[in-house]
Amino acid sequence: MNYSKLKPFSDHFLWGASTSAYQFEGAWNEDGKGPSVMDMGNHAKDISDFKVTSNHYHNYKEDIALLAEMGFKTYRFSIAWTRIFPHGTGEINQKGIDFYNSLINELLKYNIEPIVTVYHFDLPYALHLKGGWSNKETIDAFVNYVDVLYSHFSDRVKYWLTINEQNMMILHGAAIGLVNPNSKNQEKTLYQQNHHMLLAQARAIKLFHEICPSGKIGPAPNITAIYPASSKPEDIIAAMNLTSIRNWLYLDMAVFGTYNDIAWSYLEEKGYTPIIEEGDMEILGDAKAKPDFIAFNYYASSTVSASKNDATDKGTIGDQQLSLGEIGVYRGESNPNLEKTPFGWEIDPIGFRTTLRELNDRYHLPLIVTENGLGEYDKLEAGDVVNDDYRINYLRDHIQQAQLAIGDGVQLFGYCPWSAIDLVSTHSGCSKRYGFVFVNRDEHDLKDLKRIKKKSFHWYKKVIETNGKDLSS
Ligand code: BG6
Repeated sequence: MNYSKLKPFSDHFLWGASTSAYQFEGAWNEDGKGPSVMDMGNHAKDISDFKVTSNHYHNYKEDIALLAEMGFKTYRFSIAWTRIFPHGTGEINQKGIDFYNSLINELLKYNIEPIVTVYHFDLPYALHLKGGWSNKETIDAFVNYVDVLYSHFSDRVKYWLTINEQNMMILHGAAIGLVNPNSKNQEKTLYQQNHHMLLAQARAIKLFHEICPSGKIGPAPNITAIYPASSKPEDIIAAMNLTSIRNWLYLDMAVFGTYNDIAWSYLEEKGYTPIIEEGDMEILGDAKAKPDFIAFNYYASSTVSASKNDATDKGTIGDQQLSLGEIGVYRGESNPNLEKTPFGWEIDPIGFRTTLRELNDRYHLPLIVTENGLGEYDKLEAGDVVNDDYRINYLRDHIQQAQLAIGDGVQLFGYCPWSAIDLVSTHSGCSKRYGFVFVNRDEHDLKDLKRIKKKSFHWYKKVIETNGKDLSS
């Protein structure tokens, strides 16, 4: 629909950006921090340094001053579970509490609203050794951990996110360290882990509502529109299959407290159904466990066609070599209507509006975008200049579509692109940059880690200043 007049972003719209602890903080074993699966895993160790990353742990004051200079209204960051509990449970590490207290206070000094993700891929390694999310005790450890976070920080933190991209963790479990890539029956294991994570999330949300009635909490999956490759009816069914398996399985449980029917039928067909113990569905269906809003990450749409029922259904996409396609369910296709980033991710701003509409139609909850952005090989030019016009174009096109979605009736209350400042990409090291601020380092040569404002820094500052009215560069 074309509108003759655009609805504005609300006066209190939360403009900001995001980071995650293991990609940004560094100090991986300092001040009592224990190891996480991301520290110990082999996801990208060979291609980059993950121990120092952007050294934010030691540089947070300068970093937050830069966010304040851009005029941030909010900043989404994650807490490293292993800074609070080095072994996942047991004694609290006071230095971890101190660090996040200082970080939160520094944000509030500049009137930047903190948004805290409690778990962004970095499960404590000690819990992993005891079976990780396959072990139901991890649910109790998680609830104990969030209880400590709420009691220390909820006096100043209003917005909380439970689990970052649970759906990506389950769909690409070996890549994110949930299962051993060589283990058998990985999917069956992963869907049991998924059930446990859903229980952990429900209990964490319920607890939050009991002890922080004035705060807000929600999940943070990666959600995207899935297109059928053609108008063939069988392609439409394939797109619905993937939409249910990738998107609704997670959000229907969070919001409605039920397993999505199509996703459940898929689990049954494949033999992946989790064991559901007595009492589990009561926990999942508890009205107090319902989120107050949905946060979601969006980078690209996906396109699929009907399965051919043979091995060719399973292909790969993009730089992460993620498989897209499953025999008897759907096959991944590239979309000829879309351009791709140098890392092979399709760029689809209109798909962003579609995704916002779909989420609104289905759940009628307020929405916030907690990741959206362009990974690129930025070049530092003479005079400390980074001309990242491609990033400005990407973000501008997405913000325009977000505004159209607001016109469609979507209750969008914030936009936090990825990432505030350069950090280490999960799979592609630090050559793949996302930030508004360049961090001067290479994969293994840490150089001086100096912060350098990119062209997009100045552009985003103006976007925020004008509350999204001036998107010109
Ligand atoms: C999201 C994650 O999946 O995508 C981030 O929440 C990640 O942690 C981001 O960095 C971009 O992916 P990548 O592989 O380019 O770093």
